[in-house]
Amino acid sequence: MAEPRPVVVEELTRRFGDFTAVDRVSFQVGRGEIFGFLGPNGAGKTTTIKMLTGLLEPTEGRGWVAGLDVHGQRREIRARIGYMSQRFSLYPDLTIRENIDLFGGLYGVAGTRLEARRRWILEMAELQGQEGSVTGTLPLGFKQRLALGTAIIHEPAILFLDEPTSGVDPVARRRFWDLIDGFSHRGVTVFVSTHYMEEAEYCHRLALMNRGRLIALDTPRRLREEEARIRGSDPSSAPPPSLEEVFISRVEREGGAVLG
Ligand SMILES: Nc1ncnc2c1ncn2[C@@H]1O[C@H](COP(=O)(O)OP(=O)(O)OP(=O)(O)O)[C@@H](O)[C@H]1O
Ligand SMILES: [Mg+2]
Repeated sequence: MAEPRPVVVEELTRRFGDFTAVDRVSFQVGRGEIFGFLGPNGAGKTTTIKMLTGLLEPTEGRGWVAGLDVHGQRREIRARIGYMSQRFSLYPDLTIRENIDLFGGLYGVAGTRLEARRRWILEMAELQGQEGSVTGTLPLGFKQRLALGTAIIHEPAILFLDEPTSGVDPVARRRFWDLIDGFSHRGVTVFVSTHYMEEAEYCHRLALMNRGRLIALDTPRRLREEEARIRGSDPSSAPPPSLEEVFISRVEREGGAVLG
């Protein structure tokens, strides 16, 4: 039987009272794809990710993650995917080893597999020999890689990262993206939200959200080309618009960000 597409979403909607945070959003994500999720604060990125990770029940619309239904199979989805929340999920007062083992317990990773995964995480995060250190004392870049490691301790094929590099320095961010790229090459699907436009360039496709709606969905290159066409600029003389310019123009054409 063919493997189901990692993410399929049709008209997915989430309301809080009479406020619509996510408004009839539709898209699909392919295996091994790095799918970037952009949009101003309050656009609905985290709310969408929470519906796809089984943390929040959609109000309307349909969706499947690894072939599992976002309405009826939320617990199965949570066990199957990796999720790094906008606020790191690590316990600051625990040691590095205690955090790793705690997540192992949550995801049913034990025994020799846990030992192997622990070694892998420590190596990936460059924290070998530091297992006994208290997590809260680590520099942010290390915490971030440890949080990534614990989120994928069970080796999920689909990974959701909600602003994973927020506040991390450029060198640590680049290293983080090298890891993401490696996962993608091994067939892992990565769904990632970011406010950093240089990171958006690393994504295979970008979805741009504004006021709960999906307002653009394409490769970084095609988004830039489309923007140049809309501006009527001569491609032989004018430099192509940056993703930052694309992003700002698209949001402004849609009537600005939230709070409007
Ligand atoms: N539990 C909730 N109850 C009421 N409103 C909510 C709730 N969660 C989110 N919202 C609202 O939904 C909208 C979308 O929020 P969301 O967190 O999804 O945005 P975001 O795109 O992730 O923004 P940011 O870039 O700041 O992380 C916001 O207006 C937010 O205030
Ligand atoms: Mg968010």
